[in-house]
Amino acid sequence: MQLHIDEFTLKHPGVLAIGLNEGAARALPPSLAAAFGGELERLLDEQDFKGKAGASVTTRALGRVAATHLVFVGQGSGSPADLRLAAGAVGHFAREQGARDVSFAPAGAVSPAAAEAIVEGLITGNYRYDRYFAESSRKAAIERLIVLNPNVSKAALETGRVLGQARSLTRDLVNAPAADIYPESLAAFAAGLASERVTVEVWDEVKVREAGMGGITAVGQGSDRKPRFVHMVYRPEGKSRGEIALVGKGVTFDSGGLSIKPTDGMLTMRCDMGGAGAVIGVMSALEALGLPITVHGIFAAAENMISGNSYKLGDILTILNGKTVEVLNTDAEGRLLLADCLSYASKLPVSHIVDLATLTGAAVVALGEHYTAMYADDDALAAALSKAAAESGEGFWRMPLEPLYKELIKGEVGQLKNVGGRLAGSITAALFLQEFVDGPKWSHLDIAGPAFLGAPERHLVKGATGAGVPALLAWLRGM
Ligand code: BES
Ligand code: MN
Ligand code: ZN
Repeated sequence: MQLHIDEFTLKHPGVLAIGLNEGAARALPPSLAAAFGGELERLLDEQDFKGKAGASVTTRALGRVAATHLVFVGQGSGSPADLRLAAGAVGHFAREQGARDVSFAPAGAVSPAAAEAIVEGLITGNYRYDRYFAESSRKAAIERLIVLNPNVSKAALETGRVLGQARSLTRDLVNAPAADIYPESLAAFAAGLASERVTVEVWDEVKVREAGMGGITAVGQGSDRKPRFVHMVYRPEGKSRGEIALVGKGVTFDSGGLSIKPTDGMLTMRCDMGGAGAVIGVMSALEALGLPITVHGIFAAAENMISGNSYKLGDILTILNGKTVEVLNTDAEGRLLLADCLSYASKLPVSHIVDLATLTGAAVVALGEHYTAMYADDDALAAALSKAAAESGEGFWRMPLEPLYKELIKGEVGQLKNVGGRLAGSITAALFLQEFVDGPKWSHLDIAGPAFLGAPERHLVKGATGAGVPALLAWLRGM
């Protein structure tokens, strides 16, 4: 997508979007209002347009201006978060029209953060996963964006592009069928992101087993597609101002294993690498953002399948940190992979570990598709992540790491068991993970709800959302 900056004129082709703040929802650019002689104000009145963030009124331009379509879009308060929603609605509309050219006239001054949000929102709203449709039936994506405000920062627009593309990259990985994205191909994709500042190490199933990663080995052993462990590192160009680790669950397909899921529950389980996908998306953006901290991106990729070699109920696994786990349900596989990854990350010289995982149906039942269940063993980390989520348009809701519930995951033959029963399922999963964190401050993000939508939400289409990518990038940039 090309990015341009220009004055407001009536000569721009394609979709012309006019941002309007709540409380000033009739403040149209005078030349535009004049070209339509009062009709536009009437249209907005008819539609009861108030300028709420992301609300829009659209019309064909009928030859009165160069554009084919006009979009009046609410900017709410004009905050970056509201501008992101506004631009998202524009991106969404542009894709429905197959518009290659979009110009956006934001109301008022545009701060750098707002300029970033405009481009990011536009890319996010414009996103579709359509590679399996015939080329002739695909609607065109935006190729050229002109921001109609001469004072907007070009650098901020470019940053917005990096943020938006990182999220789209994650969405593509998560939406891809399990036949395309399996442990080896996911690892290979990560390896393809190696660059001057990013190194990528991939361990195959033999190395994983020999290293003592009993969780990854067990979960992956039932599949013909063997598991992988991946460790990416981004190192900044100058002096590094900190060091953190991101850890992702990369179950490229979750059949449930011998504790097999019913069809309905299995249908979308290609999304179960959403955590790893988010880690990869974040890592893909760091060099372009010039982030001054060292970031480790770690994930285990495995397919949870059924075969003569599947791991079994009653198996006792030894995780990398030496703890033993009884398997009571092979469908609680994500925590077994993460246990090895968190043990590994705990040995790195990092101050913080944040893991992301489509971990439990219980988190979806509790919070739905809009909220990530956030756990943290440190209040400052929880506060920083909440702030980053709010700024970047994500919903994080803190849940308790209630020590009383540790009882529920005590093993009988091993130290721990991998399921804690019906109650507090997302919390007992988090408490299980906590057993494998030793040293760094830690947060766990259960993204099972937000990672993959069953129904469209605002400017996000059904399917993968890139959950976690915006908030983590905001958090890292704010460190
Ligand atoms: N991948 C699932 C969790 C999930 C559910 C993600 C819905 C996205 C949408 C996970 O591996 C799983 O199967 N969890 C079980 C745990 C249970 C066996 C303790 C669950 O939530 O039912
Ligand atoms: Mn499962
Ligand atoms: Zn799973």
